[in-house]
Amino acid sequence: PLPKPFGVTLPVPPVARPVRSERGADIYDVEQREGRVEILPGRKTTVWGYEGIFPGPTFAARSGRTTVLQVRNNLTVPTVTHLHGGVTPPESDGYPTDLLLPADRCSPGQAHKAHNDMTARHGGRLAVGYRRYEYPLPQRAATLWYHDHRMDFSAPQVWRGLAGFFLIADEEEDRLPLPGGNRDIPLMLCDRSFEEDGSFRYPAHSHHAFPDGVLGDVQLVNGAPWPVLEVSATRYRFRLLNASNARRYRLRLDTEGGRPGRFVQIGSDGGLLAAPRPLATFDMAPGERFDVVLDFADHPVGSRITLRNTAGEGDMRNVMRFHVVRRGRDDSRIPARLSPSFEQLTPSSAMPVRVFDFRRTNAGHDEQQMWTINGQPFSTDTVLASPRLGSMERWRFSSDFHHPVHVHLAQFQVVARGGRPPAAWDAGWKDTVDVRPYEVVEVLARFAGYKGRYMLHCHNLEHEDMAMMANFQVT
Ligand code: C2O
Ligand code: CU
Repeated sequence: PLPKPFGVTLPVPPVARPVRSERGADIYDVEQREGRVEILPGRKTTVWGYEGIFPGPTFAARSGRTTVLQVRNNLTVPTVTHLHGGVTPPESDGYPTDLLLPADRCSPGQAHKAHNDMTARHGGRLAVGYRRYEYPLPQRAATLWYHDHRMDFSAPQVWRGLAGFFLIADEEEDRLPLPGGNRDIPLMLCDRSFEEDGSFRYPAHSHHAFPDGVLGDVQLVNGAPWPVLEVSATRYRFRLLNASNARRYRLRLDTEGGRPGRFVQIGSDGGLLAAPRPLATFDMAPGERFDVVLDFADHPVGSRITLRNTAGEGDMRNVMRFHVVRRGRDDSRIPARLSPSFEQLTPSSAMPVRVFDFRRTNAGHDEQQMWTINGQPFSTDTVLASPRLGSMERWRFSSDFHHPVHVHLAQFQVVARGGRPPAAWDAGWKDTVDVRPYEVVEVLARFAGYKGRYMLHCHNLEHEDMAMMANFQVT
C-alpha cells in the first residue's frame, strides 16, 4: 500500500562540511556508496547515494570561490558527476565517458581492460576509485544541482539516488532582505516506484518500451513521499528543482478556503530575476529550477495549503502540503528590484543562428527507434556547433515531443516560444528549457568561461540514455 499523503514531515538534506578550506577554495570528501534509508514508512530502501543518502548533501558554495569535490566511488558501478548549471572546466564537467570506476571491484589493471574499449573509442578520462572535480564557479548566485551522468546509465543511477543540491551565494544576493536561514528551503521534486519490500523499482529494459521515459507512482519531495511542512505565517523561500527522470509538473497552490495561493518567482536556473514575478501556475520540466517565495501570512493560522501538480493524475496530482501552525515575526521582503546587474539580452542579426532538432526516428537498424539531434544519435566525435569563447549565439530548438533541452556551460535566455514571446515562466537566465511537441524555442546563449568540448542533451533521462545528446566545442 502506498503511504497516505501529507503524513511524513519534509526532510531537508544536510549541508556538507568541507574537510579543509584554503585561500579561495573549499575541499570536500564525498563518498558514493549504498545506504539503507526509510522512504516508505516502515520499510527500507537501498539507495546509491552521495554519502549514502538521497538526496545527497547540499553544498553551500560562493561565487568565485572554488569548490573541490574529492569523490570516492564505493558503489559497484562506474559513475560520472556533473554539476548541472555550473560554469566548469571541461575536465571536471562530468562528460558521460569520463568514468570513475568503483574503488575495490577490480585492480586498476583489470578495470582499465574492462573499460578500455569505451574509453578508447570515446576519448574518456578514466579514473579508478577516486576523482577530483574542481568547480571555480565564475558565475552568479543560483540554485544548481549535481547528479550522475554516466553514459547510457544516467537514468537508472539518478533514480537510485545519485543527486543533490549545490547552492551558490554571492554578495548581490546577500544584500537582499529575502527570507533566509531555515526559511530558505530547497525542494527536490521527483517521482519513484517501489517494490513490495521497499526497494526502488526501475524497469530492466527502459529504453524502447518507455518512449515517455520512466514515471513513478510515488511523489517524493527531498526523498519523502507527499510530505508536509509546518510553517509560520511568514514568507518562505523555496528552491524548487525537478529532479525527476521524465515527469513534468504544472504546479499550483490549493487552499482550503478557496483563496488561491500564489507563487512569487524570484529566480530561475541561472539565479535571480531582474524583478519578482507573481505566478498562479507554472510548468517545470526535468532539470529546471524555480526559486519562489510563498507568503503564508496571506493565510490564517491553521490553514493547509497544498502544492499540486495539475499535470499529474490520481495521487500524482499531490506534491506536498504546507500547514500554517503559528504566527511569526517577519523582517523579510521581496524587493521590487532583485538584481540590478541583471542583463536582459536582445537578439541581433549579427549573432550566429544554429538549429537543433530533437526527434525520434525509426531509421536505426532492426527498426529500433533512435532519439536524435539533427538526425544523429550521440557520438563522442561529432561536434554540432563550435561557438567562440565569449560570444553570443541564437540557438533554435525544435522537437517532435516533450524534450527538456539542457545546455552545459552556457547560460541562456528564452526569446521566443512557438513564434511568440516566451511564457511567463521562461524568464531569467536558464540552462534548461522545456521544448514542447512541435514547438520551436529560440534562446540567446552566452558561451563564457572555458574552451573545450561540452554537450547539450535532452534532460528526460531515458531519452538522454537513448543517445539524445550532442557535443559542441567552445573555441
Ligand atoms: Cu543535469 Cu547534462 O545534465
Ligand atoms: Cu527528450
